[in-house]
Amino acid sequence: MCGIFAVVNDKTGNAAQTVLAGLKKLEYRGYDSWGIAIKPTSPETAKLQIEKHIGKIGEAQTSLPAGTIAIGHTRWATHGGVTDANAHPHLDCTGKLAVIHNGIVENYLEFKEDLIKKGHKFSSETDTEVVAHLVEEKIKNQKLTKAVFETFNELVGSNAIGVIDYETETIVACRNGSPLVVGVDEKNKQYFLGSDVPAFLKYTNKVHFLDDGESVVITTNEIKLFDLKTGAEKKLSLQTLDWKLEDAEKGGFSHFLLKEIMEQKETIAKTASVNEKEIGEIASLIKQGFKIVLTGCGTASYCALAGKYFFAKAGIESQTYGSYEFLPFSKFIDKKTLVIAISQSGETADTLIAVRQAKKNGAKIVSIVNARGSTLERLSDIILAVGAGPEIAVVSTKAFTSQLATLYLLSKAAENKYDEGKKQIKELKETLTLWIDKLSTRLIGLAKTLVDQEHIYLIGKHLNYPATLEFALKLKESSYLHAEPFAAGELKHGVITLIQKGTPCFVLASNDEVKGEILSSAAELKARGGRIIGVAPFKSSEFDEVVETPDLADLTIFGNIIAGQLLGYYLGIGRGADPDKPRNLAKSVTVK
Ligand code: M6R
Repeated sequence: MCGIFAVVNDKTGNAAQTVLAGLKKLEYRGYDSWGIAIKPTSPETAKLQIEKHIGKIGEAQTSLPAGTIAIGHTRWATHGGVTDANAHPHLDCTGKLAVIHNGIVENYLEFKEDLIKKGHKFSSETDTEVVAHLVEEKIKNQKLTKAVFETFNELVGSNAIGVIDYETETIVACRNGSPLVVGVDEKNKQYFLGSDVPAFLKYTNKVHFLDDGESVVITTNEIKLFDLKTGAEKKLSLQTLDWKLEDAEKGGFSHFLLKEIMEQKETIAKTASVNEKEIGEIASLIKQGFKIVLTGCGTASYCALAGKYFFAKAGIESQTYGSYEFLPFSKFIDKKTLVIAISQSGETADTLIAVRQAKKNGAKIVSIVNARGSTLERLSDIILAVGAGPEIAVVSTKAFTSQLATLYLLSKAAENKYDEGKKQIKELKETLTLWIDKLSTRLIGLAKTLVDQEHIYLIGKHLNYPATLEFALKLKESSYLHAEPFAAGELKHGVITLIQKGTPCFVLASNDEVKGEILSSAAELKARGGRIIGVAPFKSSEFDEVVETPDLADLTIFGNIIAGQLLGYYLGIGRGADPDKPRNLAKSVTVK
């Protein structure tokens, strides 16, 4: 939630433009408002210049003057409504300090009252603004760096901040719980700060992901890393990422969502070539009797649930909890538990809370993550990095299927059939490629018939149950259509009352042991007048129409889910939604 970006020594001399372009890459982190603060090269007043606006940044332009040092922010509102005044950066009273922030300062009210008594004037309702005034207060008696460190150490909550100082032309950034990464373009001596790498990937792939309790101080001469608690300098070692610029660009597609759906032709199969050693290590722990608990939020929680079915097929018991409901059950987690946390971003607050609790209980933590350098990775004993590449669209697609494939491989490894699983996942590539390319025409036609609907119901059984949950979420997020998923067996216990003549009912199915049962459920819906749309690798007289998916045995759910991703995309277009940035959502939910 919220995107932070900053540049020092901008080689174009137009730092505001550089920051604006960087923020556009981070828009998926929040799109309520945006803002930039710059030290102009030829200042008219000895103050930072600021521009802030509500609304999406996509087409935005800035009229800020030339400069080589600037900070910017794209906001997902928490404290204070969506207004220009509440947009970041926030200034102190002198106009020489400005702050950008990702997180929540839980104790901001206690500071605010005190600061007002001391004469500070507030111009927003945000928690962030106290940070600017606190630093302003402290800087009266000490250097900027110390003032920022001290301020940050007093904040309660998960936070990342960036502070720009007009006088010393310095940016100080601190991290505790919210992501921050620095990029160094050694050749041009340009320094970047971002919530995520795509913001500055155009300039450099040499990065350092800040750890909690770390700060970077960036001046026109150098960049230094510090320990926030002791104030001691630390060695800054940069890692080189193998991400390519194209990974963070639309590459000819109209939206990132469509690009990322199509990339699954490659990304799913890629999971069969990574993590072999780690998967072996985890399988061996499972064989030693470690109990398995899977956790995640949203799409990742559906992935966890699908994992539970994979493990059950392999004859292994596991438990699944949404991370946001993990704590009541955490007392059952002990040293002999393997907690498998699934997350695209590795920064989801609820998932991190669950993992921290599990760690306290002595559990071994395995993470199945996509983004690199995340907090979740740092908390993990074993990391399964799925390598789907940057996922920019807010709606998760390729990260999900790579995580699902990884869980499948893990379940196969646990029953000593890793090579078989690897072969199956690799083979998906060809089948999916041929099929996806033909799928669009079919789904555009279907979307046209559904675009004016208010409600859609979906059923699935066994592995197709989590697939149905994910399919429905894709429709809801991408098109704002009310899509309600059920386990096929559940529907007749109440909700079948809602099915009337013509109600669209999706039935997700595979050629599996419950094919007959799911078709009976379809018949029950049909008998109430429902319009039955099968998503399956077969035709059936119970279906009024069918979206045919590849027959891939246990892996059929991959095709069934991808059909939902793509249908969501086309429905979103048809219903006027922004498929890359659904309303009210943020890519990475870093607050509780
Ligand atoms: O980054 P994470 O995978 O931890 O995110 C978890 C959920 O917030 C995320 O999957 C969310 O449900 C997406 N909007 C799904 O498209």
